[in-house]
Amino acid sequence: MKAAPTAGNGRAVVVTGASRGIGAVSAVRLSSEGFRVYAAVRAARDADEARTLGLIPLRLDLTDAGSIEAAAHQVTADLADGELYGLVNSAGIVLPAPLEHMRAADFRHQLEVGLTGQLVVTQAFLPLLRAARGRIVNVSSVSGRVASPFIGAYSAAKHGLEGLSDALRRELRPSGVHVSVVQPGAIATELPAVLMRDVEAAYAELPPVARQHYGDTFLRYGRALAENHARHGSPPETVARAVLAALTARRPRTRYAVGAQAGSVVTASRLLPDRLLDWLLLRTLERTAAGRSTGRR
Ligand SMILES: NC(=O)c1ccc[n+]([C@@H]2O[C@H](COP(=O)([O-])OP(=O)(O)OC[C@H]3O[C@@H](n4cnc5c(N)ncnc54)[C@H](OP(=O)(O)O)[C@@H]3O)[C@@H](O)[C@H]2O)c1
Repeated sequence: MKAAPTAGNGRAVVVTGASRGIGAVSAVRLSSEGFRVYAAVRAARDADEARTLGLIPLRLDLTDAGSIEAAAHQVTADLADGELYGLVNSAGIVLPAPLEHMRAADFRHQLEVGLTGQLVVTQAFLPLLRAARGRIVNVSSVSGRVASPFIGAYSAAKHGLEGLSDALRRELRPSGVHVSVVQPGAIATELPAVLMRDVEAAYAELPPVARQHYGDTFLRYGRALAENHARHGSPPETVARAVLAALTARRPRTRYAVGAQAGSVVTASRLLPDRLLDWLLLRTLERTAAGRSTGRR
């Protein structure tokens, strides 16, 4: 009996950040839908793990142009038809700090991993994507619409990724390559625990003048943000579904806002004036932080 066609139909996709979280779950989901998935990871053990899941590992670090080039060469050599149907840019980090006191090197690193790296990866794979008239899916965030305090560098990178994606979509229109943005809200991955750890470490390193300026607000709001994600976050499968939709819909959307709080944040950013949004966001963070300290959640 002839096998039923799958959504992926053997077409090749590259997923970055595939060692864990949204990237890992998306890679496995796309593979189960019949895509030939190249899982871009940093560590050797994650490459081994990807292989056991039936994925094809690529070693790629967004801060290492050589590794990106090598990964593109590997895929080019491996593809029989020279066609890459999809690129899912999911890898990312969050470096928290009050902007006034953030080290310039940390700010640059956030932009390197959260914005420049996405462009360099996209450039490396575009010849293959063009050949397939394929699709690019950039995993942004609701932080690409509304900037929370103390993760300003991350918000800057995500706002940048939104603008980059819009420009790229318009530039690539004649080529038939489509660009979608996925904007997750709160998603329960390892990211909240890592954020919590990084907020505490960054707070411990703040100079006395920063503590004078910001008191413990940075610590309280940072913890509140992380805990909101961990407690109320949607499963990463929610985002994987949107990634799949962006790759397979006959008419893919330009933006997919998905997961806990995504819809309300995006709607608020469209409808509310900035000052009202400031008030609402700060009040929500204050309430979450206060609830946290009194045990009310
Ligand atoms: N979780 C959320 O609530 C949420 C909400 C909105 C948007 N997002 C976005 O969704 C994407 C995935 O987030 P997640 O929650 O899945 O995060 P995660 O669980 O922390 O996973 C992050 C992934 O990025 C990879 N990565 C980090 N630095 C890298 C680098 N320099 N080069 C290559 N890969 C690197 C990590 O690889 P290693 O394992 O090697 O570190 C890991 O695979 C990110 O872009 C994030 O901003 C997440």
